[in-house]
Amino acid sequence: MLLAYNDEGTGPVVVLLHGFPLSRAMWAEQVRALSPSFRAITPDLRGHGESPAPDAVYTMDQMAEDVVEMLDGLGVTEPVAMGGLSMGGYVALALVLKHPERVRALILADTRAAADTLDAARLREESARGVLQAGHPGAIVEAMLPRLFAESTIRDRPALVSPIRAMMEATSASGVAGALRGMAARPDRREDLRTITVPTLVVVGEKDAISPPDEARAIVEALPDARLAEIPEAGHLSPVENPEAFNAAILDFLRNPT
Ligand code: MLT
Repeated sequence: MLLAYNDEGTGPVVVLLHGFPLSRAMWAEQVRALSPSFRAITPDLRGHGESPAPDAVYTMDQMAEDVVEMLDGLGVTEPVAMGGLSMGGYVALALVLKHPERVRALILADTRAAADTLDAARLREESARGVLQAGHPGAIVEAMLPRLFAESTIRDRPALVSPIRAMMEATSASGVAGALRGMAARPDRREDLRTITVPTLVVVGEKDAISPPDEARAIVEALPDARLAEIPEAGHLSPVENPEAFNAAILDFLRNPT
C-alpha cells in the first residue's frame, strides 16, 4: 500500500510512527526539532490520516510491511532509527523483529509489549462494530480522549487537546475498525524483546494511564540494550504534551545511541 508521508530534513533517517487513531500530524514538534540534523520521515499508517483505509484487519505485521514498502519507494535501504508511539510502537516492534537489518536504533514511546487480554480484545471488537455501524469514530473519540492526556493537560491546555480531537474525528470508521481488530490480534512480544539487540530508548509520560511507567520499565529490563526516559507533566501523548522534554530525550539518544 502506498502511504502518505512527510519527509523533512537531511541526515540520518528517523522514522516516527503515530498512535491510534491519530496521524503523522501528531509529530509536528518532533519534525521541527529533528529536521535540522536528521531526515524525519513520518507516514500515515494505513487507515489513518491521508493513507488508504481498506475494509480489512490491519495486523501490526501488515502495517510494518507498509512502512518497509514506503522506505523502499524512497530508496532508503540503509538501517534507520525507527520510533513509534503506542500503536506505532507495536508496529515498530513488528518491523524490527521481521526486518532487523532495516533498523539501527529503536524508540518505543508510551507503548506495550504484551498482547491484549481476552477482555480487552473483546471490547475492541465491540468498539469496531459500533464504529462501523455508526459510520464515524465518535464513540471511540469520547472514550479515548480523556485517557490520552494527563489530567492537568485536559484541565489547563485545551489548545493541545482540540487538534488531537480533530485528528481522531477525521479517522474513517473503516480505518478505526481495521486498526482496532489488528491491535486485538497482535501477539505477545515480551519474550521477543530479548532478541532485539539494537540500542533502544523507551519513553513514557509520567502520567500515562494507557501504557503506564511500570510497563515501560519492564520493557527496558527485558531489552538487551535499552534506557528509559520518563517525561514529566505528560500522559500517554508525551511528545504532544511535553515536546521540550520528549525532544531532548530523543535527540540525546539519536546523537549517542550506544
Ligand atoms: C494508541 O495510543 O495507539 C492506543 O492507545 C493503543 C492501544 O489502544 O492499544
